[in-house]
Amino acid sequence: MKKRDGYYIQLDNAAENMLRRANFLGCGHNGIVYLLEDNNKVIKIFKSKYVCRSEYNILQKTSKSKYFPKIYSHGLYYIVRSYAEGERLDYYIKQNGLDEKVAKNIINLIKEFQKLKFTKLDIRCKDLYLCKDSSIKVIDPKNNYSKCCNYPRHLMKGLDKLGVLDEFLEFVKEDYGEVYEDWNYKIKRYLCRGIK
Ligand SMILES: Nc1ncnc2c1ncn2[C@@H]1O[C@H](COP(=O)(O)OP(=O)(O)O)[C@@H](O)[C@H]1O
Ligand SMILES: [Mg+2]
Repeated sequence: MKKRDGYYIQLDNAAENMLRRANFLGCGHNGIVYLLEDNNKVIKIFKSKYVCRSEYNILQKTSKSKYFPKIYSHGLYYIVRSYAEGERLDYYIKQNGLDEKVAKNIINLIKEFQKLKFTKLDIRCKDLYLCKDSSIKVIDPKNNYSKCCNYPRHLMKGLDKLGVLDEFLEFVKEDYGEVYEDWNYKIKRYLCRGIK
């Protein structure tokens, strides 16, 4: 959805009231996100109630995880959740490169995906925010319980584009040796030959 796309969604009074004093943060294909008045919460308005429900279902399953936004309230077409204060991970890496702390946090995030029993152990760099304390937050989880991917393909593809994939894999070797051979083999095969 482009910012200027014209669309109309019937929201409930609670959402209408929140929106009155909210500031536009960003938009994607599925929704538009506003920062709420208290600066700690955002409201995401969805184009589709089905996408809203599916994101809500993921966020409910991840509600105990520090990596995911907390849900405060929701409606058919919206979710109010915590604001991820920080910088988009890909922008940060572009500016600063990949340091050890960040690399280890990315690895811990994928370990968390496994603990949460995600069937898709993957996320795009642009959906990760890096907070001031170097912790990582997922802002936009998608299809993690419906699609399958047993290694972080898009994430590593993004790191490759940023020129830090080999460095990242070195940290994987050090920190998560059990998966190193597998991830290294699969991502190289994917990047060279497009085999998923
Ligand atoms: N929790 C958040 N904290 C900060 N910015 C956010 C947050 N959620 C969304 N945004 C901003 O809003 C944009 C669109 O949100 P996103 O959840 O990615 O929508 P979509 O599902 O349509 O891709 C993001 O790219 C980001 O700029
Ligand atoms: Mg998005």
